[in-house]
Amino acid sequence: MPGAAAMKVFLTGGSGMVGRNLRETAPPDAEIVAPTRHEVDLTDPPAVQRALDAAAPDLVIHAAGRVGGIAANMADQAGFLVENLRMGLAVLEAAHRAGVRCLNLASSCIYPPEAPIPFTEDRLLTGTLEPTNEGYALAKLSVVRLGRYLNQASGAARIKSLVPCNLFGRHDNFDPTTAHLVPAALRKVHEAHARGGDVVVWGDGSARREFLYAGDAARMIWHAVARFDDLPEVMNLGAGTDHTILEYYQSAARVVGWRGRFQFDHSRPVGMRRKLVSVEWQRRLGFPEPRPLDEGLALTYRFFLERHAA
Ligand SMILES: NC(=O)c1ccc[n+]([C@@H]2O[C@H](COP(=O)([O-])OP(=O)(O)OC[C@H]3O[C@@H](n4cnc5c(N)ncnc54)[C@H](OP(=O)(O)O)[C@@H]3O)[C@@H](O)[C@H]2O)c1
Repeated sequence: MPGAAAMKVFLTGGSGMVGRNLRETAPPDAEIVAPTRHEVDLTDPPAVQRALDAAAPDLVIHAAGRVGGIAANMADQAGFLVENLRMGLAVLEAAHRAGVRCLNLASSCIYPPEAPIPFTEDRLLTGTLEPTNEGYALAKLSVVRLGRYLNQASGAARIKSLVPCNLFGRHDNFDPTTAHLVPAALRKVHEAHARGGDVVVWGDGSARREFLYAGDAARMIWHAVARFDDLPEVMNLGAGTDHTILEYYQSAARVVGWRGRFQFDHSRPVGMRRKLVSVEWQRRLGFPEPRPLDEGLALTYRFFLERHAA
């Protein structure tokens, strides 16, 4: 039929950072159905089933979740566990009943922190979880595992999970009280550039972190859609390299054009040791390479200026 979409995608979390980046990078022949929370509460299984059956998609991408930083997770472990579990169960079971393929997004916090670096997919469930976001991680891990059990039940590998590392980018959260490292660094450096003064880095800046530009993560997710049948049941999405916290701040300074001084607040915790996921599967399946760090930060800063600093 002329003009018909080649692929109809039911996207959960379409208003979130990942969801918006997926919509901005979608292949031209993809028709995306992305109900809002108001239209479909994903913690309500019958509502999810009705919406999915009505949409009759070729594929589900489950990119909704209750997501937060350490403080938010520690303050409400039960809420993070229950909401993420309910959403995951509802979405995967609905896709299973409808016989539709489903790409589920997990998170690299499902790895035991003591696993060898880089984290390979076979290290899942080989140790205890990071206590600060255990509820969230337990929910994500259970949903990944549910995918396996449903595949076993149907005899078809219709549910696959991607395990992204930390993300940053367009549609990120720049709120100074809750922002993650990269948007927080961009905002702090931007404000020092505008008003003067030093930029304070928590800890000594030497801890290493892995962050992937969300636009690149979205392009990778679309690549995963195209290679769905070749994907393993669980596959990491990573940047392939990590940087020190100071290097993220230095990149922010280059992007903003600020030449001031960093101060280090040694009273603040340095946080966990390294956490870097293996990108072996990405290489094997020819996934697109992520852009260099400064380029991702420059695009994120441009978004910040457009939306938040007008
Ligand atoms: N951001 C990261 O660094 C990162 C890293 C690894 C993995 N991930 C995973 O990627 C996924 C998306 O993350 P994100 O950063 O895009 O999060 P986000 O910006 O907080 O977006 C979350 C999305 O989920 C929706 N949602 C939450 N509860 C819902 C409910 N009960 N019913 C319907 N929709 C609901 C939100 O809708 P509203 O807009 O209405 O709230 C929003 O669209 C999550 O599964 C997360 O675990 C994220």
